[in-house]
Formats: sequence, C-alpha cells, structure tokens
Amino acid sequence: MAALLDIPLRTSKPAYQKVTQPLLGSGQVRRGIHRPQDVVAWDLPVERRDQPVKSVFPDSGVDLLIVQGDSILEHFREPAKVTLRGTLRDSTMRYAAITGWGACMPPAVLTNADLSTFLDTTDDWIRSRTGMRERRISHASAIDMATVAAKRALACAGLEPDAVELVIYGSCSNDEQVPNSASGVQFALGARRASAMDVNTACTSFLYGLSTASAMIRTGVVSNAVVIGVELISPYMDWNNRNVAVLFGDGSAAVVLQASDRHEGLLGEELGCDAEARHILRVRGMGCAYANRNVVLGDTQWDFDGQEIFRRAVHGMTRASKAVLAKCGVTADQVDLVVPHQANLRIIEAVVSRCGVPMDKVMLTVERYGNMSAATVPVALAEAVNEGRVRPGSLILMPAFGAGLTLCAHLVRWGDRVIPLGQTDAALPPSAKTALEMVNEIRALKAQAAVRSAAGLAAPRLVETA
Ligand code: UT7
Repeated sequence: MAALLDIPLRTSKPAYQKVTQPLLGSGQVRRGIHRPQDVVAWDLPVERRDQPVKSVFPDSGVDLLIVQGDSILEHFREPAKVTLRGTLRDSTMRYAAITGWGACMPPAVLTNADLSTFLDTTDDWIRSRTGMRERRISHASAIDMATVAAKRALACAGLEPDAVELVIYGSCSNDEQVPNSASGVQFALGARRASAMDVNTACTSFLYGLSTASAMIRTGVVSNAVVIGVELISPYMDWNNRNVAVLFGDGSAAVVLQASDRHEGLLGEELGCDAEARHILRVRGMGCAYANRNVVLGDTQWDFDGQEIFRRAVHGMTRASKAVLAKCGVTADQVDLVVPHQANLRIIEAVVSRCGVPMDKVMLTVERYGNMSAATVPVALAEAVNEGRVRPGSLILMPAFGAGLTLCAHLVRWGDRVIPLGQTDAALPPSAKTALEMVNEIRALKAQAAVRSAAGLAAPRLVETA
C-alpha cells in the first residue's frame, strides 16, 4: 500500500497524495482508510483541470477515479496511460461554505435631486453616466453597521456568536485607526473567542477578506469566519467635489463561512494590483502622511481620474474574471449569476459583455445604493439570495476593482441552502434625520473647520514621489 502512496506526481504545486477513497458498489465515494483492493480516488477540483500542469501516473495497478465531492467525474482503468491536467488536492482538505448572509443598509436615502441642491449636477447626468439614482447615508457608525450585518448573517447560519473563530472587517472606513475595527465588531457581537482582523484593499476588501478567511478555513487554522464588507464614506467624502460626491454611499453586509467537506464556497479567485496607477484614486487627508500638517481628519481632497479608473476597471475586472473562469475550468455560459462591484453601470455592462455573460445574469444594486466600495458585493450577494436569484449549487462570479488599484474576481459555488436558518431583531438605532440633513451637517462641520492646508494635503512623502 505504501507504494501507492508514493506515486510520484509532477505538479507545479504541492500535491497531496494521501487521498484514498474506497469505491463502493453504489458508485458513491466515501472517506475512509483504503485497502489494496480499493479503487483509488483523487479529488481533482474541476476549477484546476485546465491549468497547464501535467501529472503522469505510473502504473499503480489500480483503477483511478477523479472525484469531485461525492461525484465521480472520470474513471480510468489504466492509470499508467492517464495524463492529468491540474493540481491534485487532498480530498480531505476542507472547503469553506457560505452558510449565512445578511445586509445592514442605513435607511436614509440621498437622491440625485438632493445632491443637486448643493452641487452643480443633475439627475440626468448622474443617471446617464453612472446608472445611479440614489444612495444611503448612515447615521450610525461603521462598526454599528458591520455588527448588525454580522448578527443577521450569524442568525441566518444558525451560528452563535461565541462559536465564531474569526472576524474579518473588509473596509477602508474605520471608526478609529487604533484599535482596529474588527475587534469592535467582535466585542459588539460577543464573539469572545474570535480573532479579529481588518482587511483594507478599498472596494475589493470584502473579496480579499473572503479569500483570506476561506484559505484559513481550508488549511484548518479556523473552522468558521464572519467576513464583512462595510463602508462609511459620508464623513470623509469631499462634498464640494461633484466628480466624486455623486458616486458613493454607505452600507454593509456580511457572510458566514463554515468548514465543509462538500465542494462549495470559494472555488477559486484571481487577485491583482495595478499599483503603477495607484495615484489616480487617492483620498488625501487620511493617514499618517498628513499628520501634524494642519489637515483636519475628514476634510479630504480626492485625487480621482474617473476616465482612467474606468478604463482600468473594465480591463482589470474583465481580465480577472476570465482568469478565474479558466483556472476553474468553467465557461462563461456555466456562470449562473454575476455579482460585480457596483461602481458604474457602464463598467458592469462592459465587463460582462467582454466576458460573454448576458446582463440578465447580473445582480444590480448600483441604481439604489451607488458605489459602497467594499460593501457593494456582499450587499448585492445577500439581496440576490433573498430575492431568489441564487439557487442551490449556483455558480457565482464576483469581479471587483478599487483603490490601489486592487482588482480581483472570485468564483463561488453556493451550497444547498438559500433560506436563512434563523433571524434576529438586531437593527440600527432609529434616526429621524434625512440623508440630506446629515450631509448638510457634515458639510457644515467641514466648513467650520476651514483649516484645510494645501501644503499638508500635498503630503510630500507619498511612495510614488519619494
Ligand atoms: O470604486 C472605485 C472605482 N471607481 C470607478 O470605477 C469610477 C470610474 N469612473 C467613472 O465611473 C466615470 O469616469 C465617472 C462617472 C466618474 C465620470 O463619467 P465620465 O463619462 O468619465 O465623465 P467625465 O469625467 O468625462 O466628465 C464629462 C463631463 C465633464 O465636463 P466637460 O469637461 O465635458 O465640460 C465633467 O466636468 O461631465 C462633467 N461632470 C459632471 N457634470 C455633472 C463630472 N462630474 C459631473 C457631475 N455632474 N457630477
């Protein structure tokens, strides 16, 4: 038997060779200790099969099965003649299933007409250039929003807070810099046993957090995680700048991941960073580079080259989407739903058209919520499930792009359950203020400060100019 386990594989990545599954008469594959007479089963995830990696099996004298979860994909009688393309993975390796989902949207709506009360803009311009009609402004803190979203996702998963092992807070909006925000959510949830980590890759933060948590679950570091995408942009928006003020909104959502033996959850991802152009999307005034320079925190100036960001977003999201589909051996027509970052309807249309996916397979929230940065994808995902657009086993493609310029695309296979196991009455505290009242209060505070320092905002020691 030892000889079987020593089958040499030539792969570009570590291969896990202790996969040995007895084949039962029913055709089902089960976990267990194999015996010499057993058929050997290798768990070769479909998503890896088109990679240019060849593994040649010498004659092992046994049948070889390629299995995925409980399904037998291929059956070779003569393994010696089989050439596999792909990376072999130990079938005892766990997956990270999405078992809970929940959004927390602040109730106050800021319309295009509201914006045009203090900016030189129109509903027609905003709708035709971006697809946005309205966005939300939060009266609550970012940690409050994140906590309510996490509580809803936990109730949906039927997981108690004290069972949570990891909280990831994906965002570039922090109530404070120190301590981190994930620890605030952990505290507010009562998830005392959980580790707590912030991930900031701007608009892609939720998806980078999904990668991080899935990898930690799959490698056994933790067995579950709450991954949050949240953004509270209104306090640091430059409300005088129509180039950016019309685009963004506040919001939050979370998912619960749990270890699973089934081939579901994150199947693969493509992560990247177009850093040579990081200077084209920058919020000046936040961070240590601006400390002690007469810059009031919140009184920002945005560097935002909209057209160039647009061009790079289309290119980056398209490239990442095609790459993750190829990695996973999935064709565009097999994708059931696209849940993209929602920065601009025209960007989404360009990306899915280049990927060969029709618009009726795209979940859109951009019209109602605008660009909520890290929150856009999880909010759209949670709404898609609640609206019945996600079915058991759905293949979901999630491309995103943000400051950095970070980019990614994730492919997820949904599990069996599309109905929440439970609900919670967790909610944001009530507020009687309208969105426009809140924005005008923020604008008044900024005007009152009136100490913005041009020299301070120029912050001479940024990495590109050092
Ligand atoms: O999540 C992070 C990623 N962010 C993005 O992906 C955003 C990517 N960029 C975009 O979505 C688009 O570039 C914008 C929506 C930001 C702008 O659309 P555009 O079609 O690229 O417009 P533009 O920047 O070329 O501006 C066209 C005109 C300009 O006037 P002139 O020079 O033609 O006279 C702008 O000054 O529209 C003017 N303009 C506005 N007019 C009314 C710019 N902003 C506004 C506004 N209202 N809010």
